[in-house]
Amino acid sequence: QTIRIIGVPIDLGQPRRGVNMGPDAIRYAGLAEHLARLGYHVEDQGNIHVPVRDTVPEVQMVTEIARTSSACYAQARQARADGTIPIFLGGDHTIAVGSVGGVTHDTPCGVIWIDAHADFNTPAISPSGNVHGMSLSILLGNGHEALVNCGRTGAKIDASHVVLVGIRDLDPLEKEVLTRSGITTFTMRDIDEMGMSRVAREAVSQLSHLGRLHVSLDMDSLEPAGAPGVGTPVPGGLTYREAHLLMEILADSHLLSSMDIVEINPIMDTSNQTATLAVKLAVSLFGKRIL
Ligand code: ARG
Ligand code: MN
Ligand code: MN
Ligand code: MN
Repeated sequence: QTIRIIGVPIDLGQPRRGVNMGPDAIRYAGLAEHLARLGYHVEDQGNIHVPVRDTVPEVQMVTEIARTSSACYAQARQARADGTIPIFLGGDHTIAVGSVGGVTHDTPCGVIWIDAHADFNTPAISPSGNVHGMSLSILLGNGHEALVNCGRTGAKIDASHVVLVGIRDLDPLEKEVLTRSGITTFTMRDIDEMGMSRVAREAVSQLSHLGRLHVSLDMDSLEPAGAPGVGTPVPGGLTYREAHLLMEILADSHLLSSMDIVEINPIMDTSNQTATLAVKLAVSLFGKRIL
């Protein structure tokens, strides 16, 4: 099996500099080496070109995000056509517009969105206006037209094909829209009450009829103490053990066909621990077992 690493150093979807350095932080933490040790053939495509944030006027931001998303979409589509499993390294969570869009070009797939946030805002309801808080909504066909129509026209996924895990910080109107959307959600409260084992199994069984899964891992889903290198930390996140268990149960499904690792901000981090944790989680997701 070949894993293809695709870097998408975009920081245009949120105001903090630094998340553009995510791809190299994850590479430096040894992603390729650790996956190769599991027996995969790993190829690194390098990074998609993204303009430097300081050179992009505010009114051009969405246009530049759309340009990057189209390039990412094309890479995602190609990775699948070539029979590889792509891992997209963000960058902020806007990369999912292209990655999820591209991997669903041929056939639909289940999406497990692991995040403190729902990223379900639209320009009309977002308090911040930050596009990384809108990516999931865009994928369902709502929001900036240039992004909704990236790669192919309209919605890229169906609400019933998404499961959100780890959410705990939603904006007031985002909450209402999400509730009405029909997306399956496992909030931190659900995880506390049901346990991660049951949550992970229910997430898989909800999507298994689609035959494959895309896992979109926003590192702010984790408890910030263990993952401080993110732009929008929220207390009360997944523990190290819960996150690993989730990855292990997803691995057991043998349905993984693509992945995003997003929102790592090395400027906010200490000794690259957030990227190091992301690599460990990816390795569990790709099948590493304790015994
Ligand atoms: N809900 C907030 C917003 O829309 C935060 C979004 C954070 N998103 C993320 N991908 N980290 O601005
Ligand atoms: Mn996110
Ligand atoms: Mn988030
Ligand atoms: Mn279906």
